[in-house]
Amino acid sequence: MTRILPDGPQIDIHRVALERQDDFDGWRDAARGLVEAGVPPEAVIWTVEGQTDELFGSQPPPEPSGGGFSVPNAFIGLAKTVVCHRDPERFGLLYAMLWKLRRNRRAMEDRADPLLDRLRRMEKEVRRDAHKMHAFVRFREMDDGNGERMVAWFEPDNHIVRREAGFFMRRFNNMRWSILTPQLCIHWDGETLSESPGATKADAPGGDPVEETWKTYYKSIFNPARVKVKAMTAEMPKKYWKNMPETEAIGELLATAQAREAAMIETSRAQESPLFSTAPVSSWEELARLARERHGADPSNSGTQLVFGEGNRNAKLMLVGEQPGDEEDTAGRPFVGPAGQLLDDMLERAGIERSNLYVTNAVKRFKFVQRGKKRIHAKPTTGDIEHYRWWVEAERELVQPGLTLALGATAARSITGKTVTISKVRGEELALPGGGTGMVTIHPSYLLRLPDKAARTEQRARFIDDLKRAADRAAALAA
Ligand code: URA
Repeated sequence: MTRILPDGPQIDIHRVALERQDDFDGWRDAARGLVEAGVPPEAVIWTVEGQTDELFGSQPPPEPSGGGFSVPNAFIGLAKTVVCHRDPERFGLLYAMLWKLRRNRRAMEDRADPLLDRLRRMEKEVRRDAHKMHAFVRFREMDDGNGERMVAWFEPDNHIVRREAGFFMRRFNNMRWSILTPQLCIHWDGETLSESPGATKADAPGGDPVEETWKTYYKSIFNPARVKVKAMTAEMPKKYWKNMPETEAIGELLATAQAREAAMIETSRAQESPLFSTAPVSSWEELARLARERHGADPSNSGTQLVFGEGNRNAKLMLVGEQPGDEEDTAGRPFVGPAGQLLDDMLERAGIERSNLYVTNAVKRFKFVQRGKKRIHAKPTTGDIEHYRWWVEAERELVQPGLTLALGATAARSITGKTVTISKVRGEELALPGGGTGMVTIHPSYLLRLPDKAARTEQRARFIDDLKRAADRAAALAA
């Protein structure tokens, strides 16, 4: 089939039939061959196997020559996520971006580009859908003939089921489970993952004792002082309520909210440092609101402020430090003082752009002792770390980094939930509670304190290596 392009010449149309809705490998191979053969985006029609169309006579894509066409990692990460979007134009849009990158390797930096903007929005929607799946899948117990199996019904907006299988494998590793969705079902038997075609809600079992567990859990995390029905429905869209047993409990909980609030005030008076629920936080707005509600009051009028994490909210690599220092407290931003400047220098030497990272701290408020005019850093206690842990977990859940790098022992305790010896685990990949991968290295302030020049040089080089390894692994794991 031949098409006449607006600017004149006739070109052959190529048709690519991908094997699956989320077929990144198929898209990449076809796109490579097409770019190498100089086929412009207007001359390619992308379909998914099984879709019928009228394009008899169009040509398949050229085979890649293996000539090597490299693109920035940022594009690969974007493409791997965007292929899971429901928009049928996604493959063509990604190819158009690739076409741009062939001419301009810095095209991913052009913030004014409407195509890149659209792709970024699609990427966000996929991530948000994945986050909802993590938070709202609810298993029911059934017997599948071979024993107990947990089965959940979920209706994602995008083609994310395969992409998110790893999350559920890590989180529910010891269970046999199935997640049924209209497009695709996935099954875990404790060792292997398998797939079957889409199902209907009728295939999923109804109520059973697991529902009681969820209801009890939900009642225990329900905070009557925070009841805002509008916000609640925004964060837990009604669409998901029908599949979530605990939502049945909402009416009753609301009805008794006042009495429960009074009881909670009593209880919190009796507790020195209440820890907060780890119920999923589903948006940055909710996180900011909860952070202010829970930690806004300045303990003992220290004059300090909460220092929020900052950076790329889609980062592959997330850095967690100890706590804000004197300068961070003044600026209200993490890692801007001496340790931050050293960190920036080390990142630059490792070839890592800080703007690509999400940077935060385990403890969100500067803790110090006053010596004359100076505020001297005081080490956070385990209690301080636990107090803010829900917040760091929420940041990890929202960013979904490929890897979280803990800088120093406080951060390591925060992300692993355990006290770890840095020299024993440094550089190793660690499975984190609640999912995700972590790594531990030293805190940059350790490098500032080394008196001996030779040791300093050696330790800085080692720290740079750790940063490089963390960034490489983060890119691979986020893929
Ligand atoms: N040290 C940290 O751990 N975090 C900061 O933000 C600054 C110094």
